[in-house]
Amino acid sequence: MNRKSKWIMPPEDTGSAAVEFRGSADIAGGLKRASACVSAMGVYKFRVNGREVSSAVLAPGWTSYKNRVLYQRYDITDMLSEGKNTLSVSVGKGWARSPLSLMREGNLYADHPSAIFYLKLEYEGGKTKEVFSDGKWEVWTTPVINSEIYDGETVDLTVAPRLIGEALPDKGIDVRLAPQYSGLVTEHERVAARRLITAPNGEKIIDFGQNLAGYVEIRITGKAGERVSISHAEVLDKDGNFYTGNLREAKQRDTYTLSGGRDVLKPSYTYHGFRYVRIDEFPGEPAPSAFTAIALYSDMKRTGYFTSANQDVDRLFRNVVWGERSNFVDIPTDCPQRDERLGWTGDAQVFCRTASMIYDTSRFFDKWLADLAAEQRADGSVPRFCPMVPGMDEEGNSAGWGDAAVICPWELYRAYGDPDVIRRNFPLMRGWIEYMHSAGDEEYLWIGGNHFGDWLATDAGEGAYVGATQTDFIASAYYAYSLSLFVKMGQVIGEDMTGYEKLYTSVRRAFRETFMSSGMPVVYKKGDGANKARRTKAVTQTSLAILLAFDLADPGERGAIAKKLVAQIKENGGKMSTGFIGTPLLLPVLSSEGYVTEAYNLLLQTKAPSWLYPVRHGATTMWEHWDSLRTDGTFWSDDMNSFNHYAYGAVAAWLFETALGIRQTEDSAGYSQPVIAPRPDRRLGSASGSLDTPHGKIGVSWQYTDESVRYEISIPDGMCARVEIPGKPPVNVTGGEYIYTT
Ligand code: BGC
Repeated sequence: MNRKSKWIMPPEDTGSAAVEFRGSADIAGGLKRASACVSAMGVYKFRVNGREVSSAVLAPGWTSYKNRVLYQRYDITDMLSEGKNTLSVSVGKGWARSPLSLMREGNLYADHPSAIFYLKLEYEGGKTKEVFSDGKWEVWTTPVINSEIYDGETVDLTVAPRLIGEALPDKGIDVRLAPQYSGLVTEHERVAARRLITAPNGEKIIDFGQNLAGYVEIRITGKAGERVSISHAEVLDKDGNFYTGNLREAKQRDTYTLSGGRDVLKPSYTYHGFRYVRIDEFPGEPAPSAFTAIALYSDMKRTGYFTSANQDVDRLFRNVVWGERSNFVDIPTDCPQRDERLGWTGDAQVFCRTASMIYDTSRFFDKWLADLAAEQRADGSVPRFCPMVPGMDEEGNSAGWGDAAVICPWELYRAYGDPDVIRRNFPLMRGWIEYMHSAGDEEYLWIGGNHFGDWLATDAGEGAYVGATQTDFIASAYYAYSLSLFVKMGQVIGEDMTGYEKLYTSVRRAFRETFMSSGMPVVYKKGDGANKARRTKAVTQTSLAILLAFDLADPGERGAIAKKLVAQIKENGGKMSTGFIGTPLLLPVLSSEGYVTEAYNLLLQTKAPSWLYPVRHGATTMWEHWDSLRTDGTFWSDDMNSFNHYAYGAVAAWLFETALGIRQTEDSAGYSQPVIAPRPDRRLGSASGSLDTPHGKIGVSWQYTDESVRYEISIPDGMCARVEIPGKPPVNVTGGEYIYTT
């Protein structure tokens, strides 16, 4: 962005409507290159001579607006012609002005739309010309009367745009403009309507057959002034009626007044989480063929594929992928539908590894981590979600949530092998470590504080949000775990980590002395009182899994802990009782301790709580709760019941790393030392998949026949991998295709 460009705003209050900032460029002959930079307070659409320049939606995206706003650069050379050209930036409320979270009044970052623009024209022979947004730009009305992130959009196509007046300089904006470097949010899959339902209560509903984040495009020719209105929802209730209870206050409704010609309707400045739309208003009989759902998410390269002959597991994996797509809308959101859609740190942390296998998330997370760093407080703590919504901030953060500051950079480094992610995030990580170091009265433990614990675990009984594992246990374990990762990462980039290494030794020792006895977890009696009220238990599936996964158990203790975990699962009817913190750890620790069959038992469990229960109950995305929908068709609650929450999708990392066996040695990164160690199970029949690593694509498939298992492994040229086929001696192989039968 050029410094001479000014933020501009409308000359009068335009309320909730989207406005168009209109400028022009006079183009002479011999134009070689035209490059435009655009940004807005709100979300914008950029058009040249009335044509949309890019398929970007919701630009400039959501960043920590008090610290930085991104601008986007577009090559518009081919869109300009000699003579006068119209440049237009239309701005809707977006995240800057819509109500967000509990801040229902909106206008959180600004109370009016603003835009900033710069165009550089380069001519043959070296001459250049520039165009800036300034007071010469005009401000026009648009057909968009209202548009909000949660509530949807209202569009009137009968009203011709009207000149409001000349733009004014917006002197109130004092924010750093940074270039966009992550993928823009754009339109992806187009999903045709599957069926039109008339619900028992008479409402007309379109079913797209897939829950997703995006919007609906409607093609229609009607009379001028006729209206179309649709509401969006994820599920039908037990009677088959349209259910919006779990959206809480989000209206998710788009309303259009038709122009009278042929209209292609879709919103410009909002998005929804939905599988179904209810037709609230429509002229005549709606035909399903007129409706198409369009998925919106950040552009990322697809890197990980998995399929299985077991239809349930296959669907589970697809649900994880849709969970990622639906929640990687510029920031990693918890869910795309209710009045929340926030960048919750804990959710991002538990899903980061899986997400980074399925898509190349390096730039996506890099952008979000830069905002997390921008919002880090002087004491090193980071907000619960990022970007933080003004008015919603609280001190500190929960263990397992704030640890995103360390764990996300670690997972990105492991996935892509680029040490720069460590360098860039080193101060962020150090700050969070120092925050944990100073939190509470104990130097080497994290006791007390406000924690989400093993969020949504079922072991604390019906209706509890925080699971039975002591929150001090989880907090102190994360303190040790994040510190261990921080030490490793510091060493990778050549920092002197001796002080932190010593600290780690003390933290691990203190954890073991406080939270373990005879190699098993115990409750710390002097711990947080609130824990006791929640019927804290010492030995839970989560506490056992944490000891193994975070290397808090000594080698001689691991066997007994794993055995106890297997017994606990058995006592619970072969089901898990874990929440956000414990669930992603279960299968990895079971299989790494030799309980591969038990891990598969858990994976293949179909009664709740289990990954396949939602699959068997029609899920097309991951659910927030194990029993979001109960067997009798009722919902566990209206309050916190997202049907598109990616956190439990973290299980897919195990499908790659253990079922297919595409992994890497503990001390390497970016698959520079890959290990292929598939662990098949007859109940899956076959599995196949691939991972596009920085060193090329690794492919693995295995298939059961009557007496044998056949493995096919594909290693890219130039890669050297260790192959560990069950029942065969390990071998080192180089690029090529390999077949094994056992
Ligand atoms: C979100 C979660 C989040 C949690 C923190 C919820 O409202 O949807 O996914 O991690 O709050 O407790």
